[in-house]
Amino acid sequence: MLASVDQILEGKFTDKEVEVRGWLFNKRSSGGIQFLIVRDGTGWIQCTVHKDEVSEKTFEDADRLTQESSLKVKGIVKEDKRAPGGYEIRVKDLEIVQLAEKYPIAKKEHGVGFLMSHRHLWIRTPRQFAILRIRAEVVKACRDFLDERGFVLTDSPIFTPSACEGTTTLFEVPYFGRKVYLTQSGQLYVEATIATFSKTYCFGPTFRAEKSKTPRHLTEFWMLEAEMAFTGFEENLKLQEDLVTYIVERVLEKRKKELEILERDVTPLKKVEPPFERISYTEAIEMLQKAGYRIEWGDDLGAPHERFISLKFEKPVFIHRYPAQAKAFYMQPDPKDSKVVLCADLLAPEGYGEIIGGSERIWDLKLLKKKIKEFKLPKKAYEWYLDLRRYGAVPHSGFGLGIERTVMWICKLKHIREAIPFPRTLRRVYP
Ligand code: 4AD
Ligand code: MG
Repeated sequence: MLASVDQILEGKFTDKEVEVRGWLFNKRSSGGIQFLIVRDGTGWIQCTVHKDEVSEKTFEDADRLTQESSLKVKGIVKEDKRAPGGYEIRVKDLEIVQLAEKYPIAKKEHGVGFLMSHRHLWIRTPRQFAILRIRAEVVKACRDFLDERGFVLTDSPIFTPSACEGTTTLFEVPYFGRKVYLTQSGQLYVEATIATFSKTYCFGPTFRAEKSKTPRHLTEFWMLEAEMAFTGFEENLKLQEDLVTYIVERVLEKRKKELEILERDVTPLKKVEPPFERISYTEAIEMLQKAGYRIEWGDDLGAPHERFISLKFEKPVFIHRYPAQAKAFYMQPDPKDSKVVLCADLLAPEGYGEIIGGSERIWDLKLLKKKIKEFKLPKKAYEWYLDLRRYGAVPHSGFGLGIERTVMWICKLKHIREAIPFPRTLRRVYP
């Protein structure tokens, strides 16, 4: 019977005959026994080949197996305390599907440059397996959370006529004799679809021509963007708290094994629950100045600033009401102080910094037109967006959660490049 390693390790096939299809992770031999560690995409299991229990050919085949060869093994599942994971397969039969050439990634440590050039192979290692499995769980949790709450998925286009998040990080693409851009954010389009469904979201790749090389910037990253009609600043933050809590709880519940592979201390993750901490941008600036940072009111916060503030709190912390000039054109000014906008960035704890950016949106036509002018944006490209303020405009809010930033924090990674299967950065588009 075809069986998956994760189920075998749960005890579902004990003393049964199974077939496992996968790849050889590791091998050693001792006396008349060969110990094969086989992985099948769900886990790793020890398969023992006893010389006196199998045909000569099977034993020889086991002997010729090289690291990462693909294979099928048949045998009986046995509980065995000495085996890693507590179970092993006593092999009866073995079929080599492909005998791998000498594998470039050995057991020894490799430099990051080498690993990045071999990303297509690097992702097979237990650590990358764990991170990417958690990433898939995070994505599933995001979608489940919003689907369960009545949000409708409406995908935003990748080719766009205009900027959403500032014109300095746009990727230009030739498009049948004219120029278009790769999307920086699907937000403007989910602002349109809320008039169809009231609560919507998009989830897809977004692009930023980030010219700086930092451990938390990709040029291509995935973003979950939710938008809600008839919703203000407060309700928007509440939803974000619930979402982030839901994601963390889901990973803690379903991805224990992967968190163990990463040796992730889960104590800080267990503290994530609403309400999150909140400070205003102005308070953040005061905290930073007091600590000796040279930053002025009006400056945007950089990674070191966010890190400093994030480390002051055990839970995620919202920084709200940034100066209008530091943020995007579409954000609603605070009625109590027009110098600031009704926005908030959510910083993840343990020094990680921003994982969500969100705000209440301007819904007044006149004000939005004024902002487009102030930000020197080409009005023509935003005519459709202005229409949303002409026909049934409502107060609305939304946010965008960066998937890789979230995975980076939950997995406690030093660099964002491990949080996506094939990272795209300033210098790297291969493999
Ligand atoms: O703060 P940002 O730029 O906000 C927006 O794009 C809004 N339009 C979202 C919305 O309200 N619908 O980006 C949102 C999040 C950030 O908090 C961060 O997690 C992630 O996207 N992000 C990046 N992740 C990796 N690499 C980059 N270069 C990123 N830039 C932003
Ligand atoms: Mg932001």
